[in-house]
Amino acid sequence: MTEHINIPNISSFRAYYIDMLLMLFLFSISADQSQSTLQAKLKALQCHFTWDIDPSRSRLFRFSDKLEDIGTEEGNSWLGHIYNLQGYIHYQLGFTEDAQRFFIRATEAFRRLRKTVSDEGPWLVVNYGNLAWLHHHLGEQAECQTYQSKVEALLKEYPSPSQDELHPEIYAEKAWTLMKFGKDKRLLVADYFQRAIRMQPDMVEWNTSHVIALVNVQKYGNTPVGEDILEEMRMAKEQDPENLYLAVLDLEQRARKGERIEDEARELARKVLKNPVSSYSGMKELLWVYNKYVSVDEAIALAEEALEKHPDNRFLKTCAALCYKWRIVFHSDSHLKQSTTDRAISLHKEVISLYPHSSLLKKITLANIYAKSNHNLAEAEQIYQELLESHLEPAEKQMLYNYYAKYLQFDRRDYNRSIEYHIKAAEIPQQSFLRYNSIKVLKKIKKRNRSPMCEEIEEFLAKLEVKKS
Ligand SMILES: *[C@@H]1O[C@H](CO)[C@@H](O)[C@H](O)[C@H]1NC(C)=O
Ligand SMILES: *[C@@H]1O[C@H](CO)[C@@H](O)[C@H](O)[C@H]1NC(C)=O
Repeated sequence: MTEHINIPNISSFRAYYIDMLLMLFLFSISADQSQSTLQAKLKALQCHFTWDIDPSRSRLFRFSDKLEDIGTEEGNSWLGHIYNLQGYIHYQLGFTEDAQRFFIRATEAFRRLRKTVSDEGPWLVVNYGNLAWLHHHLGEQAECQTYQSKVEALLKEYPSPSQDELHPEIYAEKAWTLMKFGKDKRLLVADYFQRAIRMQPDMVEWNTSHVIALVNVQKYGNTPVGEDILEEMRMAKEQDPENLYLAVLDLEQRARKGERIEDEARELARKVLKNPVSSYSGMKELLWVYNKYVSVDEAIALAEEALEKHPDNRFLKTCAALCYKWRIVFHSDSHLKQSTTDRAISLHKEVISLYPHSSLLKKITLANIYAKSNHNLAEAEQIYQELLESHLEPAEKQMLYNYYAKYLQFDRRDYNRSIEYHIKAAEIPQQSFLRYNSIKVLKKIKKRNRSPMCEEIEEFLAKLEVKKS
């Protein structure tokens, strides 16, 4: 029996081999290509991962705490946005599983809140974009593709009403999100809200938030905002009478203009107390109005009343702690009762433990309460020393140095070291109100020309000027 084995001759084998190589080569090129087109598509998505939000770790923790304090009451129309942002923040902090949970929760919240006939709509574009990015970062390319395709499908089905603009839902979410990231974003925030509102004028909460964003830019001033903004606020209030946060802002603006608002403030307080607890309830802002235009003791009483109703609520504890801080640090006088001080200290200790990742300012406040109330300077100094030795980011250091300098000046009358710490604060290039404050103090001391350190101050200020030019 002759076996007939079909041995390929050498040349056909070589051809086969080359074919194989070529195929592999082409395959890898196309894989590369689809990789890079996917990359490009991901970069083109409108979502938190592409919005240039990159805060430091300490700010991420602070944002996360703040978002948590908004609360997750049903009926909060920003719930989907809140979860989307929480997801992104948790991803940035390295908690990918939490990130995924938040993004999924966002999907569900949007579906529930928009309550339309269909399960999906343009409000999910940002959310699906986030999910695509998250899966991409986790190396789960198939899931990434799926979400990327979902975004494409949504954009096709729900194109923006205005050709060269994003969908209003996207603008609104971007505006609301950037609103959380500081004053330097305020122009963008206003612009995005305006675009969203122009294209889709029936969303009450967009109008309300737009006005809140406009007013909050001047949160800490004493002068009222411009007539045009006041007019917008009046209109928004008419459309959204249930929004007590807006009502409080309006009240404060009227107080700034000299109107007597005590009774209205008390009336508003009754309403706020009936609503669910949330940092959007207006309580914190109302307490500030009380402190400024009614009385700080009434502010304390109101905060305590709210706490009695919700004794375990962390946000209300912060509010109460804040009122005691105003009472002791800003309205410091000789009539301070020991019981007030004790309550202030215990509340602050509690609040510090409830915000383990974002308690620097609260610790500084506790030190100041010790320093001001019963002149317990040793306790104050100990807290400051611990903070000075802890690991902090530049912006946090700047804050600590500025407060420590003020404490050295007013509570210890250690003027040399106070100047030293104002210089340390101003040296950190981070632009902030506190840096501005330290520089202002140094200039004043120099001008008065009585400090033995005037020369040092002059040298330092000259150096700053050189850097600026
Ligand atoms: C929102 O504001 C726009 C522009 O100011 C206005 O035309 C629209 O009626 C407002 N929508 C609601 C629901 O209040
Ligand atoms: C403050 O600093 C000046 C100059 O640096 C020095 O002469 C003076 O003794 C210092 N005063 C105190 C109280 O340390």
